Amino acid sequence: MRVLVTGAAGGVGGLLLPGLAGNVDLRLTDVRDPQPVSRAEVMLGDLTDRRFAERLCAGVDAVVHLAGNPRPGDDWDRLHGPNITVPTTILGAAAQAGVRRVVLASSVHVLGGYHSPADRPTSDPISDSWAPHPCCRYGATKVFGEAAARVYADSGAFSVVCLRLGGCRPTPPTRGWFDVWLGPADLGRAVRLALRADAQFGTYTITSANPTGLFDLSAARRDLGYTPTQNSEAYRDTVPDGPSTMCRLSLN
Ligand SMILES: NC(=O)c1ccc[n+]([C@@H]2O[C@H](COP(=O)([O-])OP(=O)(O)OC[C@H]3O[C@@H](n4cnc5c(N)ncnc54)[C@H](O)[C@@H]3O)[C@@H](O)[C@H]2O)c1
Repeated sequence: MRVLVTGAAGGVGGLLLPGLAGNVDLRLTDVRDPQPVSRAEVMLGDLTDRRFAERLCAGVDAVVHLAGNPRPGDDWDRLHGPNITVPTTILGAAAQAGVRRVVLASSVHVLGGYHSPADRPTSDPISDSWAPHPCCRYGATKVFGEAAARVYADSGAFSVVCLRLGGCRPTPPTRGWFDVWLGPADLGRAVRLALRADAQFGTYTITSANPTGLFDLSAARRDLGYTPTQNSEAYRDTVPDGPSTMCRLSLN
């Protein structure tokens, strides 16, 4: 399987690529050089350029779309290009090139409005079956990405697996990350499963197996076969306290 990974030079790309390299043939893209990966093809350029995006998608079976702005505190002006324009460009180019599967990096922030128990419809863990409820403008742009991808999936252009990723770091930086932490091994496992899952469209929250996790991972377990093995509690004695990484909506 030949796989294009966008945003390959970013933080998630850095955690993902070492594990993905042995499983698929990689074409990597970003505006800057990604970390070296053996036998990977690298094409640098700006994904707002539709012609460049078409060249990237030519001859690949699947796209793992990571490129974007991951900062929940940013305003519309900073989010619009990377999180609204770029997804439409890469989705259009993928359809034109005949790509069969797109794996989209979405975020737990699409459901972040349920973070407070008072904002949940039930006392159950936060579920992918609930309507999107973003906690911030960033989360709203990720809802847009999922919706734009669904248009292509429903039209039959290609199948789409949206991974609502938790906080991706090698280890949780503080205990404030414990409910949403996603370790590199589990990230790699989820992306490998998403590339091959039997699905036309789906949205799946992906975190590690965190005992204090607020999110229900059963949709990913059922449809993707995702069984996380990392666990934030393993770091309780080695990391400091810190505030929750989930945001409360404030439009400054
Ligand atoms: N980091 C996390 O914990 C986390 C959690 C949930 C979801 N995500 C999502 O995962 C994806 C990757 O996040 P990240 O933390 O690696 O972000 P990052 O900022 O570290 O990397 C994103 C990369 O995208 C590239 N990019 C942005 N605009 C581009 C453009 N126009 N053309 C080409 N390349 C462009 C940047 O150069 C950058 O290297 C994002 O979509 C983010 O929303 C990240």
